[in-house]
Amino acid sequence: EKAGFEHFMIKEIHEQPKAVADTLNSVLHDGMIDLNDVGLSEEEIRNISQIYIVACGSAYHVGMAAQYVLEDLARIPVRVELASEFRYRKPLLDKNGLAIIISQSGETADSLAALREAKAKGVRTLGIVNVIGSSIAREADNVFYTLAGPEISVATTKAYSTQLIASYLLAIQFAKVREEITQEQYDGMIAELQTLPEKIQKIIDDKERLQWFASKQVNAKDIFFIGRGIDYAISMEGSLKMKEISYIHSEAYAAGELKHGTISLIEDGTLVIGCLTQPNLYEKTVSNMVECKSRGAYLMGLTTYGNYNIEDTADFVTYIPKTDPHFATSLAVVPLQLMGYYASVAKGLDVDKPRNLAKSVTVE
Ligand code: M6R
Repeated sequence: EKAGFEHFMIKEIHEQPKAVADTLNSVLHDGMIDLNDVGLSEEEIRNISQIYIVACGSAYHVGMAAQYVLEDLARIPVRVELASEFRYRKPLLDKNGLAIIISQSGETADSLAALREAKAKGVRTLGIVNVIGSSIAREADNVFYTLAGPEISVATTKAYSTQLIASYLLAIQFAKVREEITQEQYDGMIAELQTLPEKIQKIIDDKERLQWFASKQVNAKDIFFIGRGIDYAISMEGSLKMKEISYIHSEAYAAGELKHGTISLIEDGTLVIGCLTQPNLYEKTVSNMVECKSRGAYLMGLTTYGNYNIEDTADFVTYIPKTDPHFATSLAVVPLQLMGYYASVAKGLDVDKPRNLAKSVTVE
């Protein structure tokens, strides 16, 4: 059932190009996004005053990336919240808001409770869900099904990637309906989305170099992932992957926050991974990397082909193909998944079933 792969996780990493393409194709008809099955009308889209994205774990990290994309393209204010916080903080919600609940399993207890909280307050709910007929899918007013197929590994990979795609499609469609983008921009973004599967494949094809690098990190005490904007969201997911399966402590930090405390943890040889996919923030994050280096850090850069001057700063560099910066998370996450995976393999750990964790967290 692992189809020749050593673990479900690496099998599922390899399934990402197909999962992404399937999710795209499920709503793209003749080059246009069709949300008929999701059930949101143009009028409903025009009336959304505010978006609340609520989720746990990696799905929350999708929400963080989606916040930047939705606000930037559709110009709708977005809040992203952890379901376990949202459900108990008596949130003040706007009746014309839209609550988007992201969940692979559709059974996460806190996410389900957050959905019920939003519904009880009269707010429309939209689930981005992978498991058909799951509780969140049944209870949400609208459902956008991701087509990742069954995900077995506790560490999510392909479901995460399809959740990102669903959120881009919503953002582009909302932007179009609300006349925030031109037809040309719309067509360009859809064409770009369709190149993502082959770009993801290209990153997977280069996995040996990352395997080599990740295997060298098995004795690391701490790893820091830093970035700004969408790159901060990517850092969060990279850090969780590393912790969850390799048991190496890591932190994701908004690069500009480092000097407000955390930089004191940087010692000789501490690995700092700078995520640099956003052109407007590139120089800013590079200077934070330089600050870490001058305190002894060992630097890895994760950036786009073409940004070769990163080699003046970073000790090890991984390049990803160019794409629209709104969609960079879909590419940048893949090397980070591979690093977590290979670090876990090198430590001889139970990759697919890490200690203390369950695939679906049905108790709070
Ligand atoms: O099924 P869900 O998407 O609601 O699960 C949410 C989290 O429990 C999940 O993403 C978790 O963080 C993953 N194990 C991370 O790889």
